Formats: sequence, C-alpha cells, structure tokens
Amino acid sequence: MISWTGTIAPMPHPATRALLDWYATKARQLPWRETTDPYAIWVAEIMLQQTRVETVIPYYKHWMQRFPSIHALAAADMDDVLRVWEGLGYYRRAHNLHKAAKQLVEQHEGALPTTKQTLQSLPGIGEYTAAAIAAIAFGDDAVALDGNLRRVFSRLLDLDLDPRSPEGQQRVRAWANDLLPKGQASSFNQALMDLGALICLPRSPRCEHCPMHTWCLAYEHGTQPIRPVKKTRRPLPHYIAVAGVLVQGDKVLIGRRPEDKLLGGLWEFPGGKQEPGESLEQCLERELREELGITAAVGTTIGRFDHAYTHFRITVHAFFVEIKAGKPQPLDHEALVWVPPATLTDYPMGKIDRAIARTLAGGLVR
Ligand code: ADE
Repeated sequence: MISWTGTIAPMPHPATRALLDWYATKARQLPWRETTDPYAIWVAEIMLQQTRVETVIPYYKHWMQRFPSIHALAAADMDDVLRVWEGLGYYRRAHNLHKAAKQLVEQHEGALPTTKQTLQSLPGIGEYTAAAIAAIAFGDDAVALDGNLRRVFSRLLDLDLDPRSPEGQQRVRAWANDLLPKGQASSFNQALMDLGALICLPRSPRCEHCPMHTWCLAYEHGTQPIRPVKKTRRPLPHYIAVAGVLVQGDKVLIGRRPEDKLLGGLWEFPGGKQEPGESLEQCLERELREELGITAAVGTTIGRFDHAYTHFRITVHAFFVEIKAGKPQPLDHEALVWVPPATLTDYPMGKIDRAIARTLAGGLVR
C-alpha cells in the first residue's frame, strides 16, 4: 500500500495557472535569471530598485565580473565600487551593498539570510526587495509588490482606489496572496514582473495577449486606462545652482561629498543652490566662502548642465574661478584634491559633475 504523509499544496487559481503557463514560454531571458546564487540575485534586485531592466543589464554584468562574490565585494575599495556603479544613480544603494557585504562576511561567514524578515535587517533591503530576494533566491512564499504589480492587480480587481492608499494596499495584498501558488513564488513574482513590463503596460496594455484577461475586471469593464487610480502629483521643483572650477597650474579642484548626503561619496566641483535675490556670481562666491573658506572671483562660463532626479530638476551653471584670498579647506567635504582634468575619470561622480569634467577634459587637456 502506498501511504502519503505529506501535505498536498492547494490547486492554484486558474488565473495563476494561465500566468505560469505563459511565463514558461514567454519569460524574458535576463542575466540574473541564469543563476541561483543568492548574492547575484540580491545584487540584481538592488540595481533594479527604481531602475529599468535595460539600464541595469550592462551594470549587473560588469559588477558580477568585478565583484563575483560577497567576499570579493566586502574586500573591495569603496571608490572602485562607486566607479562601477557610476551612472546608475541612487548611490546609497552601492554604499549599502558594500556595508551589508562586510557585515555578512564578518558576522555570517558571507551567507545571505534566507527569509523575508531576516533579509530586512540588512542595510538597503526594505520590504519589497526582501520579498523579491526571499521569493526568487529561496522560494519563500512572498509577493514583491512594486508599481508594476500594483498596476496589474489594480486592473485585475478593477480597483477604484489608489493602490498605495491603506485600503487599496490591503485589497491588492489580499488578492496577491490568494493568487500566489505555494512553493512557486519565484516564477509567480517574475511572471507578474514580465506581464507588467510586456503586456499590462501603463498606457496601451496589450490585453488580447494577456494570459489573465479572462479574469481581469478592468478588461471586462473597459477601465484599463483609468487603472490604477492615481493621486495627482505636484510638478517637480526646479533648482538653479552653480559650480566652480578652481585651476592651479594644470590641475583642478574637486571635493568628495559626505556619505550621508545625496550622491554621498561621489566627487564634485564645489558650489551649491542659488538663494532668492542672488546673482549666479554672488551665489558662487558665497558657496566657495562657506564650503572652502576662500574669497574667489568668478571668471568665464564653462556651460549650463541640466539633470532631472526623481524629486527635483536642477540646472547647474559652471564657471572658472580665481582664488583671491585663502587656501581651500574641506569645510563641507570629506576631502579635497587637486587633479589633472585627464584623470577625473578615476573619480566617481554624479551625472552633472561628470558632464562638467568631460567638458574640461575636452577643453583643457589638448
Ligand atoms: N524588477 C525587479 N526585479 C526583477 C526581476 N527579477 N526580473 C525582472 N524585473 C525585475
């Protein structure tokens, strides 16, 4: 007689079955899907926070070549880590990966925790990322709800609430947990991610190709364009700022930003935001007095540089600067260095300072 002592997993919802069947043939081939190494999956999920898949792929491949294991990352120099991360944005992610790797090597023999709860104790891992790593690397029954998944579930439910509101969140989470097939969280999460990226698009969803349209209430009611319900957003503030390029012989001055600030640990040309009633020149003179303790005269213009961050836009006007009195002190920076413009590529920088550096290397070096 055959005896059965295990528990039988409940049958998945037919919508889940259809989704998993679709994923089995239509899954995107992504480099972090070719591995089961939890470290590699962790790196990918951190890079994928707020960043598009196509942008992440080359960074991920380069990172895994340079830092193929937790031990390699823990032993790396922070400047090298930032140099590999440069251009990906949200630099705190790189600091946190490095910090967490060191912590794991020192206290955990280099092993990543295996559950959603314990993963969340690491720097840089919030609820979403913990759920994604737990599900994908360890098969934990968790759902990683990001904006894409909230859109998919808002449409499936035809949810007439902002899915980020407390009630909206509760409805989405309840439905997600109902659909989650036990023991198959890795495929379920990644199938939903692919559905959000390929089919259930924000503006023109491709419902006729959707494996779940039979169960989708927004499809039935024709309300896809107004799901998810969005709360109205304020326009982004636009800041005007200045940067000064101090020249001494064939070298220019850069400073390293404090770790706890935006773009922490990256190098920049000194400067800052314009205050009401100030001209650009007055602003730069004040910033250089406050940041470096020098009296400076603003010289010729280098250019105007624009960039949009998530929460604001900024225009930076860069100028050459002549020191009239004093010697630059690192009053606001972790360090100051004088370097030839051709070596600026060795120093990790944010988008705007890198653009200024490129302009200088093009002009000063020849
Ligand atoms: N976005 C976040 N995590 C992802 C993953 N594992 N695959 C594709 N897109 C993602």
